[in-house]
Amino acid sequence: MKDKYILAFETSCDETSVAVLKNDQELLSNIIASQIDSHKRFGGVVPEVASRHHVEVITTCINEALSEANITVSDLTAVAVTEGPGLVGALLVGIAAAKAFAWAHELPLIPVNHMAGHLWAARQVKPLEFPLMALLVSGGHTELVYVSEPGDYKIIGETRDDAVGEAYDKVGRVMQLTYPAGREIDMLAHQGKDVFNFPRAMMKHDDPALEFSFSGLKSAFINTVHNAEQKGESLDVKDLSASFQAAVLDVLLAKTKIALTEYPVKMLVVAGGVAANKGLRDRLAAEITDIDVVIPPLRLCGDNAGMIAYASVCEYNQNHFADWDLNATPSLSF
Ligand code: KG4
Ligand code: ZN
Repeated sequence: MKDKYILAFETSCDETSVAVLKNDQELLSNIIASQIDSHKRFGGVVPEVASRHHVEVITTCINEALSEANITVSDLTAVAVTEGPGLVGALLVGIAAAKAFAWAHELPLIPVNHMAGHLWAARQVKPLEFPLMALLVSGGHTELVYVSEPGDYKIIGETRDDAVGEAYDKVGRVMQLTYPAGREIDMLAHQGKDVFNFPRAMMKHDDPALEFSFSGLKSAFINTVHNAEQKGESLDVKDLSASFQAAVLDVLLAKTKIALTEYPVKMLVVAGGVAANKGLRDRLAAEITDIDVVIPPLRLCGDNAGMIAYASVCEYNQNHFADWDLNATPSLSF
Protein backbone atom coordinates (compact mmCIF):
# COMPACT_ATOMS: atom_id res chain seq x y z
CA MET A 1 0.00 0.00 0.00
CA LYS A 2 1.14 3.55 -0.75
CA ASP A 3 2.54 5.44 2.22
CA LYS A 4 0.39 8.25 3.59
CA TYR A 5 2.01 11.61 4.30
CA ILE A 6 0.22 14.59 5.86
CA LEU A 7 1.71 18.09 5.76
CA ALA A 8 0.34 20.09 8.73
CA PHE A 9 0.34 23.83 9.47
CA GLU A 10 -0.04 25.60 12.83
CA THR A 11 0.00 29.40 13.15
CA SER A 12 -2.68 30.13 15.77
CA CYS A 13 -0.49 32.21 18.07
CA ASP A 14 3.23 32.91 18.22
CA GLU A 15 4.82 29.79 16.74
CA THR A 16 4.97 29.18 13.01
CA SER A 17 5.11 25.43 12.58
CA VAL A 18 4.95 22.91 9.74
CA ALA A 19 5.20 19.13 10.19
CA VAL A 20 5.12 15.92 8.18
CA LEU A 21 3.40 12.82 9.58
CA LYS A 22 3.90 9.43 7.94
CA ASN A 23 1.25 6.69 8.09
CA ASP A 24 -0.63 8.35 10.98
CA GLN A 25 2.14 7.66 13.48
CA GLU A 26 5.63 8.67 12.56
CA LEU A 27 6.43 12.36 12.89
CA LEU A 28 9.15 12.80 10.27
CA SER A 29 9.59 16.53 10.88
CA ASN A 30 8.12 19.22 13.11
CA ILE A 31 9.66 22.61 12.32
CA ILE A 32 8.83 25.26 14.93
CA ALA A 33 9.84 28.90 14.40
CA SER A 34 9.18 30.70 17.68
CA GLN A 35 8.59 34.44 17.76
CA ILE A 36 8.84 34.70 21.53
CA ASP A 37 11.83 37.05 21.39
CA SER A 38 9.80 39.59 19.40
CA HIS A 39 6.94 39.57 21.92
CA LYS A 40 8.92 39.38 25.18
CA ARG A 41 9.48 43.10 25.45
CA PHE A 42 5.72 43.70 25.23
CA GLY A 43 5.02 41.17 28.01
CA GLY A 44 2.65 39.19 25.79
CA VAL A 45 1.80 38.32 22.20
CA VAL A 46 1.10 41.31 19.94
CA PRO A 47 -1.34 40.00 17.29
CA GLU A 48 -0.17 42.20 14.42
CA VAL A 49 3.48 41.35 15.06
CA ALA A 50 2.56 37.65 15.19
CA SER A 51 0.83 37.72 11.78
CA ARG A 52 3.75 39.49 10.14
CA HIS A 53 6.24 36.98 11.50
CA HIS A 54 4.14 34.07 10.26
CA VAL A 55 4.11 35.56 6.75
CA GLU A 56 7.87 36.02 6.82
CA VAL A 57 8.83 32.47 7.79
CA ILE A 58 6.04 30.15 6.65
CA THR A 59 7.56 29.31 3.26
CA THR A 60 10.90 28.46 4.83
CA CYS A 61 9.12 26.26 7.37
CA ILE A 62 7.33 24.35 4.58
CA ASN A 63 10.59 23.75 2.74
CA GLU A 64 12.39 22.66 5.90
CA ALA A 65 9.58 20.32 6.95
CA LEU A 66 9.63 18.57 3.55
CA SER A 67 13.39 18.40 3.38
CA GLU A 68 13.83 17.10 6.94
CA ALA A 69 11.18 14.45 6.21
CA ASN A 70 13.12 13.62 3.07
CA ILE A 71 10.04 13.63 0.86
CA THR A 72 8.83 15.70 -2.07
CA VAL A 73 5.50 17.38 -2.69
CA SER A 74 4.39 14.52 -4.93
CA ASP A 75 4.57 12.10 -1.97
CA LEU A 76 1.93 14.03 0.01
CA THR A 77 -1.57 12.67 0.66
CA ALA A 78 -3.24 15.64 2.37
CA VAL A 79 -2.69 19.05 3.96
CA ALA A 80 -3.94 19.87 7.48
CA VAL A 81 -4.29 23.28 9.09
CA THR A 82 -5.43 24.83 12.37
CA GLU A 83 -8.71 26.66 11.77
CA GLY A 84 -9.10 27.93 15.37
CA PRO A 85 -9.17 28.84 18.17
CA GLY A 86 -6.47 31.50 18.07
CA LEU A 87 -5.61 34.98 16.85
CA VAL A 88 -7.55 35.70 13.67
CA GLY A 89 -4.68 37.29 11.72
CA ALA A 90 -2.26 34.59 12.79
CA LEU A 91 -4.66 31.78 11.88
CA LEU A 92 -5.35 33.35 8.49
CA VAL A 93 -1.70 33.17 7.48
CA GLY A 94 -1.58 29.40 8.07
CA ILE A 95 -4.95 28.89 6.41
CA ALA A 96 -3.99 30.93 3.33
CA ALA A 97 -0.70 29.06 3.02
CA ALA A 98 -2.28 25.64 3.51
CA LYS A 99 -5.10 26.38 1.09
CA ALA A 100 -2.75 27.68 -1.59
CA PHE A 101 -0.46 24.69 -1.14
CA ALA A 102 -3.29 22.16 -1.24
CA TRP A 103 -4.96 23.84 -4.22
CA ALA A 104 -1.77 24.07 -6.22
CA HIS A 105 -0.88 20.42 -5.62
CA GLU A 106 -4.45 19.07 -5.81
CA LEU A 107 -4.47 17.74 -2.25
CA PRO A 108 -7.41 17.53 0.17
CA LEU A 109 -7.44 20.11 2.98
CA ILE A 110 -8.19 19.03 6.56
CA PRO A 111 -9.38 21.65 9.09
CA VAL A 112 -8.19 21.01 12.65
CA ASN A 113 -9.25 22.40 16.03
CA HIS A 114 -6.13 23.61 17.87
CA MET A 115 -7.30 22.11 21.19
CA ALA A 116 -7.95 18.75 19.53
CA GLY A 117 -4.35 19.11 18.34
CA HIS A 118 -3.07 19.51 21.90
CA LEU A 119 -5.05 16.43 22.89
CA TRP A 120 -3.89 14.27 19.97
CA ALA A 121 -0.23 15.10 20.63
CA ALA A 122 -0.56 12.30 23.19
CA ARG A 123 -0.85 9.92 20.22
CA GLN A 124 2.90 10.13 19.87
CA VAL A 125 3.26 8.28 23.19
CA LYS A 126 0.79 5.48 22.45
CA PRO A 127 -2.49 4.77 20.62
CA LEU A 128 -5.35 6.54 22.40
CA GLU A 129 -8.08 4.41 23.94
CA PHE A 130 -11.67 5.55 24.24
CA PRO A 131 -13.58 6.75 26.12
CA LEU A 132 -10.92 9.05 27.50
CA MET A 133 -10.76 12.14 29.67
CA ALA A 134 -8.53 15.06 28.71
CA LEU A 135 -7.30 17.87 30.90
CA LEU A 136 -6.26 20.59 28.45
CA VAL A 137 -4.20 23.35 30.00
CA SER A 138 -2.69 26.09 27.86
CA GLY A 139 -2.21 29.84 27.65
CA GLY A 140 -5.75 30.35 26.38
CA HIS A 141 -7.69 27.36 27.69
CA THR A 142 -8.31 25.24 30.76
CA GLU A 143 -10.84 22.53 30.18
CA LEU A 144 -11.82 18.99 31.01
CA VAL A 145 -12.97 17.20 27.88
CA TYR A 146 -14.75 13.84 27.76
CA VAL A 147 -14.03 12.04 24.49
CA SER A 148 -16.35 9.08 23.98
CA GLU A 149 -14.78 8.17 20.65
CA PRO A 150 -12.37 9.83 18.18
CA GLY A 151 -13.87 13.16 17.13
CA ASP A 152 -16.65 13.21 19.75
CA TYR A 153 -15.56 15.86 22.26
CA LYS A 154 -17.64 17.18 25.14
CA ILE A 155 -16.39 19.92 27.45
CA ILE A 156 -17.51 18.91 30.94
CA GLY A 157 -15.74 21.72 32.80
CA GLU A 158 -13.75 24.82 31.96
CA THR A 159 -12.39 28.02 33.44
CA ARG A 160 -14.76 30.89 34.08
CA ASP A 161 -12.03 33.48 33.77
CA ASP A 162 -8.26 33.11 33.27
CA ALA A 163 -6.66 30.05 31.71
CA VAL A 164 -3.94 28.42 33.83
CA GLY A 165 -1.11 29.43 31.50
CA GLU A 166 -2.42 32.98 31.40
CA ALA A 167 -2.41 33.10 35.22
CA TYR A 168 1.21 31.85 35.23
CA ASP A 169 2.19 34.55 32.76
CA LYS A 170 0.37 37.31 34.67
CA VAL A 171 1.86 36.50 38.07
CA GLY A 172 5.21 36.11 36.32
CA ARG A 173 4.95 39.70 35.17
CA VAL A 174 4.38 40.82 38.77
CA MET A 175 7.58 39.00 39.74
CA GLN A 176 9.31 40.66 36.78
CA LEU A 177 9.97 37.38 35.01
CA THR A 178 10.12 37.30 31.23
CA TYR A 179 7.12 36.25 29.18
CA PRO A 180 6.00 33.45 29.02
CA ALA A 181 6.75 32.77 32.67
CA GLY A 182 5.27 29.29 33.21
CA ARG A 183 8.50 27.37 32.82
CA GLU A 184 10.52 29.65 35.08
CA ILE A 185 7.85 29.68 37.81
CA ASP A 186 7.81 25.87 37.64
CA MET A 187 11.58 25.80 38.19
CA LEU A 188 11.48 28.37 41.01
CA ALA A 189 8.58 26.53 42.66
CA HIS A 190 10.76 23.49 43.18
CA GLN A 191 13.17 25.57 45.24
CA GLY A 192 10.57 27.24 47.49
CA LYS A 193 7.82 26.42 49.98
CA ASP A 194 4.05 27.00 49.99
CA VAL A 195 4.07 29.62 52.75
CA PHE A 196 1.41 32.01 51.42
CA ASN A 197 -1.49 29.57 51.25
CA PHE A 198 -3.23 31.32 48.33
CA PRO A 199 -6.93 30.57 47.71
CA ARG A 200 -7.99 27.42 45.86
CA ALA A 201 -11.13 28.50 44.01
CA MET A 202 -14.38 26.59 43.68
CA MET A 203 -13.31 23.69 45.86
CA LYS A 204 -16.16 23.91 48.36
CA HIS A 205 -18.83 21.28 48.58
CA ASP A 206 -21.55 23.27 46.81
CA ASP A 207 -19.29 24.80 44.13
CA PRO A 208 -19.55 23.55 40.53
CA ALA A 209 -17.39 20.46 40.79
CA LEU A 210 -15.75 20.64 37.36
CA GLU A 211 -15.45 24.39 36.77
CA PHE A 212 -12.22 26.31 37.28
CA SER A 213 -11.40 29.90 38.26
CA PHE A 214 -7.94 31.38 38.51
CA SER A 215 -8.59 35.12 38.64
CA GLY A 216 -9.05 35.12 42.43
CA LEU A 217 -5.74 33.35 42.89
CA LYS A 218 -4.09 35.83 40.54
CA SER A 219 -5.54 38.80 42.46
CA ALA A 220 -4.53 37.33 45.83
CA PHE A 221 -1.01 36.88 44.50
CA ILE A 222 -0.81 40.43 43.12
CA ASN A 223 -2.21 41.92 46.36
CA THR A 224 0.31 40.00 48.45
CA VAL A 225 3.20 41.32 46.36
CA HIS A 226 1.88 44.91 46.30
CA ASN A 227 1.18 44.98 50.05
CA ALA A 228 4.71 43.83 50.73
CA GLU A 229 6.10 46.47 48.35
CA GLN A 230 4.18 49.19 50.16
CA LYS A 231 5.78 48.11 53.41
CA GLY A 232 9.16 48.18 51.73
CA GLU A 233 9.51 44.38 51.99
CA SER A 234 10.43 42.10 49.15
CA LEU A 235 9.12 38.56 49.06
CA ASP A 236 11.06 35.47 48.05
CA VAL A 237 10.16 34.62 44.43
CA LYS A 238 10.83 30.96 45.14
CA ASP A 239 8.24 30.84 47.92
CA LEU A 240 5.82 32.96 45.86
CA SER A 241 6.23 30.54 42.94
CA ALA A 242 5.88 27.45 45.13
CA SER A 243 2.75 28.88 46.76
CA PHE A 244 1.18 29.84 43.44
CA GLN A 245 1.99 26.51 41.84
CA ALA A 246 0.69 24.53 44.84
CA ALA A 247 -2.65 26.38 44.64
CA VAL A 248 -2.92 25.76 40.87
CA LEU A 249 -2.00 22.09 41.12
CA ASP A 250 -4.33 21.40 44.06
CA VAL A 251 -7.23 22.65 41.93
CA LEU A 252 -6.19 20.86 38.72
CA LEU A 253 -5.71 17.57 40.52
CA ALA A 254 -8.91 17.81 42.57
CA LYS A 255 -11.12 18.61 39.57
CA THR A 256 -9.51 15.95 37.41
CA LYS A 257 -10.09 13.32 40.10
CA ILE A 258 -13.77 14.29 40.33
CA ALA A 259 -14.09 14.08 36.53
CA LEU A 260 -12.56 10.61 36.57
CA THR A 261 -15.02 9.39 39.20
CA GLU A 262 -18.00 10.86 37.34
CA TYR A 263 -16.93 9.56 33.94
CA PRO A 264 -15.39 6.10 33.78
CA VAL A 265 -12.70 6.19 31.09
CA LYS A 266 -9.80 4.08 29.84
CA MET A 267 -7.23 6.84 29.82
CA LEU A 268 -6.43 10.34 31.07
CA VAL A 269 -4.66 12.65 28.61
CA VAL A 270 -3.06 15.81 30.01
CA ALA A 271 -1.93 18.20 27.29
CA GLY A 272 -1.30 21.83 26.30
CA GLY A 273 1.58 24.17 27.12
CA VAL A 274 1.10 23.81 30.89
CA ALA A 275 1.34 20.01 30.61
CA ALA A 276 5.09 20.66 30.40
CA ASN A 277 4.91 21.58 34.10
CA LYS A 278 7.14 19.29 36.15
CA GLY A 279 5.14 19.81 39.32
CA LEU A 280 1.96 18.79 37.49
CA ARG A 281 3.62 15.72 35.98
CA ASP A 282 4.99 14.64 39.38
CA ARG A 283 1.64 15.01 41.10
CA LEU A 284 -0.23 13.18 38.34
CA ALA A 285 2.23 10.30 38.62
CA ALA A 286 1.91 10.20 42.40
CA GLU A 287 -1.83 10.70 42.75
CA ILE A 288 -3.51 9.18 39.70
CA THR A 289 -2.34 5.60 39.72
CA ASP A 290 -5.44 3.61 38.88
CA ILE A 291 -5.69 4.75 35.28
CA ASP A 292 -3.30 5.23 32.36
CA VAL A 293 -2.12 8.88 32.32
CA VAL A 294 -0.71 9.93 28.94
CA ILE A 295 1.18 13.23 28.60
CA PRO A 296 2.83 14.27 25.32
CA PRO A 297 6.60 14.63 25.36
CA LEU A 298 7.78 18.14 26.29
CA ARG A 299 8.44 19.27 22.71
CA LEU A 300 4.83 18.43 21.77
CA CYS A 301 3.23 20.23 24.74
CA GLY A 302 3.65 23.76 23.38
CA ASP A 303 2.13 24.81 20.06
CA ASN A 304 3.46 22.80 17.12
CA ALA A 305 2.21 21.41 13.80
CA GLY A 306 3.01 17.81 14.77
CA MET A 307 0.01 17.79 17.09
CA ILE A 308 -2.17 19.21 14.28
CA ALA A 309 -1.00 16.38 12.04
CA TYR A 310 -1.93 13.75 14.65
CA ALA A 311 -5.37 15.32 15.15
CA SER A 312 -5.94 15.53 11.41
CA VAL A 313 -5.82 11.73 11.12
CA CYS A 314 -9.09 11.51 13.04
CA GLU A 315 -10.72 14.04 10.66
CA TYR A 316 -9.25 12.32 7.59
CA ASN A 317 -10.64 8.95 8.70
CA GLN A 318 -14.08 10.53 9.07
CA ASN A 319 -13.88 12.29 5.70
CA HIS A 320 -13.95 15.75 7.22
CA PHE A 321 -12.38 17.93 4.59
CA ALA A 322 -12.54 21.70 4.16
CA ASP A 323 -13.90 23.61 1.18
CA TRP A 324 -11.76 26.23 -0.50
CA ASP A 325 -13.61 28.96 1.38
CA LEU A 326 -12.28 27.72 4.74
CA ASN A 327 -11.98 30.70 7.09
CA ALA A 328 -10.37 31.24 10.49
CA THR A 329 -12.63 30.68 13.51
CA PRO A 330 -10.89 32.55 16.35
CA SER A 331 -13.24 31.27 19.08
CA LEU A 332 -13.71 27.74 17.75
CA SER A 333 -14.76 25.37 20.51
CA PHE A 334 -15.34 21.61 20.60
O1 KG4 B 1 -0.31 25.55 24.51
P1 KG4 B 1 0.58 26.74 24.51
O2 KG4 B 1 1.95 26.60 23.95
O3 KG4 B 1 -0.10 27.93 23.77
C1 KG4 B 1 -1.48 28.13 23.81
O4 KG4 B 1 -2.20 27.46 23.02
O5 KG4 B 1 -1.90 28.92 24.67
O6 KG4 B 1 0.69 27.21 26.03
C2 KG4 B 1 1.48 28.30 26.41
C3 KG4 B 1 1.37 28.47 27.92
C4 KG4 B 1 2.02 29.75 28.43
O7 KG4 B 1 1.09 30.45 29.23
C5 KG4 B 1 3.20 29.25 29.25
O8 KG4 B 1 3.54 30.09 30.33
C6 KG4 B 1 2.70 27.91 29.73
O9 KG4 B 1 2.01 27.39 28.61
N1 KG4 B 1 3.78 27.00 30.13
C7 KG4 B 1 3.90 26.52 31.39
C8 KG4 B 1 5.06 25.71 31.39
N2 KG4 B 1 5.61 25.73 30.14
C9 KG4 B 1 4.79 26.52 29.37
N3 KG4 B 1 3.15 26.71 32.47
C10 KG4 B 1 3.53 26.10 33.60
N4 KG4 B 1 4.64 25.33 33.70
C11 KG4 B 1 5.43 25.10 32.63
N5 KG4 B 1 6.51 24.32 32.74
ZN1 ZN C 1 -1.91 25.90 22.16
